[in-house]
Amino acid sequence: MIRIAPSILAADFSRLADQIAEAEAGGADWFHLDVMDGHFVPNITFGPLIVSAVRKLTKLPLDTHLMIKNPDAYLEQFRLAGSDHIIVHQEATRHLHRTVERIRELGAKAGVAINPATPCSTLSEILSDVDLVLVMSVNPGFGGQKFIPLTLRKLSEMRDMIRASGKEIRLEVDGGIDETTAPDAVRAGADVLVAGTSVFGQTNVREAVEELKKRISL
Ligand code: DX5
Ligand code: ZN
Repeated sequence: MIRIAPSILAADFSRLADQIAEAEAGGADWFHLDVMDGHFVPNITFGPLIVSAVRKLTKLPLDTHLMIKNPDAYLEQFRLAGSDHIIVHQEATRHLHRTVERIRELGAKAGVAINPATPCSTLSEILSDVDLVLVMSVNPGFGGQKFIPLTLRKLSEMRDMIRASGKEIRLEVDGGIDETTAPDAVRAGADVLVAGTSVFGQTNVREAVEELKKRISL
């Protein structure tokens, strides 16, 4: 089953409760929360305070994407705020195995993200210990960027690696996902689609989620 994870980065924060309810009504499966620190990526978004606010607005899994330096220092805070999944970047984590173990100890599902220029092979030794891999299809930092087609090949390669591991690992794609790119990403092996602009950037959020779901079921 393919899951849709709308990213609240593109939502209207002055009406977050309505926006989340609309996305849920359209069939959203998870909510994706983009945490940026102005160091690992050039942009600053929000921290655990917003995660805990979203936690009160939905029972769906919260998929927290940490685009921050030194994520180890904040894992507990993001878990306590209500994150069900905690995703760290391979490029921002010095001792990835320890970090992944810590996330699991905290009772969350552990995810690792890789930037467009980072090879899939950098995850070969850690793959069987993670619950989720996130392949970035744009350079992290901003919503509304154009999907990088080269990442389709990476999705297929990662899907093969996951299959070979024999483990149940979700393969998430993040960046520039819309009605056109979503089916390509699914064909390449993604089973979780993060969508910011193509959901919350639309006037009718419910219909936007429904439309994406329709496109990937064709
Ligand atoms: C980018 C973030 C994405 C972003 C996706 O750095 O990780 O999750 O919100 O936004 P869209 O769907 O607009 O590319
Ligand atoms: Zn993200």
